[in-house]
Amino acid sequence: MNTVVVGAQWGDEGKGKVIDVLAEDADILIRYQGGNNAGHTVIVDDTEFIFHLVPSGLLHPGKVGLIGNGVVVDPEALLEETQRLRARGINVAEAVKLSDQAHLIFPYHKKLDVLEEAARTGRIGTTGRGIGPCYVDKVARCGIRVADLLNEEVFAAKLKQNLAEKNRWLSALYREQPFEFQPLFDQYRRYAKLLEPHVVHGARFLHAAIAQKKRLLFEGAQGTLLDIDHGTYPYVTSSNATAGGVCTGAGVPPTCIERIIGVAKAYTTRVGEGPFPTEFPPALMEQIRTKGREFGATTGRPRRCGWFDAVIVRHAVQVNGCDSIAVTKLDVLDDMPTIQVCIGYQLGGRRLDEFPSDMSALARCQPVYESLPGWQCETGEAERFEELPTAAQAYLKQLEHLVTVPICLISTGSKREQAFKVGRW
Ligand code: GDP
Ligand code: IMO
Ligand code: MG
Repeated sequence: MNTVVVGAQWGDEGKGKVIDVLAEDADILIRYQGGNNAGHTVIVDDTEFIFHLVPSGLLHPGKVGLIGNGVVVDPEALLEETQRLRARGINVAEAVKLSDQAHLIFPYHKKLDVLEEAARTGRIGTTGRGIGPCYVDKVARCGIRVADLLNEEVFAAKLKQNLAEKNRWLSALYREQPFEFQPLFDQYRRYAKLLEPHVVHGARFLHAAIAQKKRLLFEGAQGTLLDIDHGTYPYVTSSNATAGGVCTGAGVPPTCIERIIGVAKAYTTRVGEGPFPTEFPPALMEQIRTKGREFGATTGRPRRCGWFDAVIVRHAVQVNGCDSIAVTKLDVLDDMPTIQVCIGYQLGGRRLDEFPSDMSALARCQPVYESLPGWQCETGEAERFEELPTAAQAYLKQLEHLVTVPICLISTGSKREQAFKVGRW
């Protein structure tokens, strides 16, 4: 069944782990947006692997991963990742495909990302990987794609033109040193040779796979609340992380998608700036951050933590069209005597059931909580829903009710085995 997995919160929901579990029943894994701002963790046999660009799930033998046209690719990061996969015994030449229409990240994008962030009054807290500036060039139609890189003449012309503009920008606005053409050109031509064996026409590759009845698994990066259109703008990333991004970012029709799964933690986290109504007070923040090891997989930054916010996950269920949700990190709540779930907001004298588009209003929203009893025992060994403590079952049932769709998978630990499917598959 062709499946899409998307983040239903602000990223880091455990999508990597869910993809790794579902990859068993898939043939081709596809990233359709974002770049190496993503960090997707998979733990197999006590060894951790963090995927940034290559789809998670490639630790299963015989799977093929495609980096779709909607992804922005830092070649250095991609080559470093394929190297790590090779060291794990993966036949990277066979397993990793790259769309020739994907846009490339250059050092000037990373430089501009950092400089623009420092110059902003309301910081976003970007990852500094050049993601935003690369998408800006894509939309401005001056970006450089993989296909351009492979054509020496075209690449030289495009790089010259981009450098002329970016260098003017860097020196006039930021008093920074310009980038020289030749070293950058030589460096990227070396990358071209290394990447060429992986390059395909992404959309045609997938259409051929669909014709052969291969099972596709699309892996969202970031999360719905970080989506450029449906998230907490401007505290978002620069791509469509939601399910709609699959069609544009991979070149497949909506009609080929058969199932959409939203991934949500049993609580909420956010890394970077922006409103976060259910954010914990300091002591609880420290407790959950430590227990859940809530530090960014890409930047190492401490993640902000809070209670489960049913308002935002319900929004995610709607805009993605989720059939079900996967709930991760249930074990992190094991010690809690009482658990709060946000069921709406209070804004001034008004009660809201949906989150406002005006971020200054969202920043003023006070969560309305429902309290549920905790279970205060370990859940990490459970292999079936019925094996969970009764209070944990009740908590999950209440989440299903609040977000309006059933739970399809529950994760109670970071290891591959610590997850089980629920309901009909
Ligand atoms: P992603 O970006 O959505 O793939 O998520 P990340 O990998 O950035 O962050 C999720 C973190 O939680 C990783 O460190 C995972 O190993 C870990 N993790 C995933 N599922 C669980 C779980 O059920 N319990 C616990 N304790 N950790 C989990
Ligand atoms: P995964 O796929 C969590 C956040 C950054 C920042 C904002 C914009 O691992 O869930 P960007 O560098 O994209 O311009 O930063 O988005 N962000 C993420 N937060 N998980 C991610 O990816 C993220 N990717 C970007 O922290 O607030
Ligand atoms: Mg992550």
